Amino acid sequence: MRYLLIICLLFVSCNSEKQTNATSETSKKEYDMYLPSEMATHMNHMFDIQETIKNQIESGEIPIEFPDEILKIHTAKLSDFKERNQNFEAFSHLFVERFELIFDTTSQIPLKQRYNDVVKLCVSCHQTECTGPIPRIQKLIIK
Ligand code: HEC
Repeated sequence: MRYLLIICLLFVSCNSEKQTNATSETSKKEYDMYLPSEMATHMNHMFDIQETIKNQIESGEIPIEFPDEILKIHTAKLSDFKERNQNFEAFSHLFVERFELIFDTTSQIPLKQRYNDVVKLCVSCHQTECTGPIPRIQKLIIK
């Protein structure tokens, strides 16, 4: 029974993002009234960072400085009904490693590809942890 409740909560929380995405600014404001977890706030911040890097790359700039705030994924507190399971740990470490590669100016792999690999990891983790924000995250891909 308790397990079922957790699943429901998970579903509700992670899908509210989807609704936000599909509807207008007004519902976005409503959504903002919920008190997000430290991790949810951090995720939104990471989204902004990733979007800034996308804009940089698209305008031909080369990002050189790794934003240390990214590392907060290892410490930020998740929503009460979520836990840092093995899956989350594995994905978050891989995510940070890939993220660092964006700033590796000696890499032979094209910048756009290194950047998109990170977005794909955002999505991979979300496929197992929280599917709601995926459509929004996919907009970060550089075509
Ligand atoms: C290691 C797994 C993992 C990775 C990697 C990850 N996320 Fe998340 N993300 C989560 C989890 C778990 C939550 C739910 C957090 C909570 O409710 O405490 C979340 C929540 C979110 C949210 C919703 C926040 C809210 O307002 O409720 C957004 C947006 C988001 N992530 C974007 C991203 C972006 C963009 C990236 C890549 C730059 C990313 N995520 C990488 C696991 C991950």
